[in-house]
Amino acid sequence: MGIDVRRAMPADAAGIARVQVATWRSTYRGLIPDAYLDAMEEEPRARWWQDVIARDAGDDGSSFVVVAVDGDGVPPGGGAGEGDGGGAGWEAGGAGYSEGSRERGAAAQEDGSRSAEPGRRGGATRKGDAPVETRGQVVGFAAAGPERSGHPEFRGELGAIYVLKEYQGRGVGRRLVAAVVRELLGRGHGSMLVWVLAQNPYRRFYESLGGVLVRSRTIEIGGVKLEEWGYGWPDLEGLLRRVEGQGG
Ligand SMILES: CC(C)(COP(=O)(O)OP(=O)(O)OC[C@H]1O[C@@H](n2cnc3c(N)ncnc32)[C@H](O)[C@@H]1OP(=O)(O)O)[C@@H](O)C(=O)NCCC(=O)NCCS
Repeated sequence: MGIDVRRAMPADAAGIARVQVATWRSTYRGLIPDAYLDAMEEEPRARWWQDVIARDAGDDGSSFVVVAVDGDGVPPGGGAGEGDGGGAGWEAGGAGYSEGSRERGAAAQEDGSRSAEPGRRGGATRKGDAPVETRGQVVGFAAAGPERSGHPEFRGELGAIYVLKEYQGRGVGRRLVAAVVRELLGRGHGSMLVWVLAQNPYRRFYESLGGVLVRSRTIEIGGVKLEEWGYGWPDLEGLLRRVEGQGG
C-alpha cells in the first residue's frame, strides 16, 4: 500500500502535529467544545513533538513516537538519540499527547514554556541525524512510553494514536500498534494501558485488539467533564502475536 511505519525523527514533527490537529477535529467534534478544537495550533505542537522525539534515549524511562508515512519515507534509523532520557517529556505530554492531559498541554502551549524551550535542543541538526529530511507525508502516528500513573499492573502506556481520516480502516492503526508494542517490549515493558474517551466510537479499535476495560476516570477538557476508559493488555507478547497475525 506504500505506507511505511517507522520510528519518528525530529523532522517528522510538523507532519505529526498536522495529523494530530486534523484528526482531533474530525474525531472529537461534538465531544469536545468547538472553541477548544478551533484554537488548536500545529506549530507549538510540532515544537513539542520535536522535543519528545529528540529526548528519546531508547530506554525504559523514555517516550517514543512511531509514524506511518505515505510515499517514499526515510528508512528506520532515526529515533533514539542523544537526548537526556529524563522521561519528563512523557508527562509534558499535555500538549495533546493523550486525551487525559489536554488541559495541561493547552497551558504549556499558551505560555510557550515547556513545549517551546526544550524543543530547541532537538531538530534536524543534532549530531548523528543531519541532514534529515523526510519524504512522503505523515498520515498517522502513535506515541508511547512508561505508564504515567504508576499502575501496579500496566507498565507501558499508549499515549496517543491517530490516523488521518482518509487513511483509516486500512490497517494503518494496527501496524502502528504493532510497532509500539515491539518497541515497548524491547524497552522491558510487558504490558500496556491506553485511555480513550468513553464516548469515542473508535474505542472499539482497542476492543478489536483484545484490550480489556480496566479503569475509568473523569477528566475536564475545555470546561467540560468527560469520562475516560482505560483499556489494558496484561500480555504484550500476546498482543504482538495478534497484530502480527493480522498482518501488522
Ligand atoms: C483508532 C484508529 C487509530 C485506528 O486506526 P485504523 O487504521 O483506522 O484501524 P485499522 O484499519 O488498523 O483497524 C484495526 C482493527 O480495528 C478495527 N476498528 C478500527 N476502528 C474501528 C471502529 N471505529 N469500530 C470498530 N472497529 C474498529 C478494525 O475493524 C480492524 O479490525 P479487523 O482487522 O478485525 O477488521 C484510527 O481510526 C483513528 O485515528 N481514529 C480517530 C482518532 C482516535 O479516536 N484515536 C484514538 C484516540 S485514544
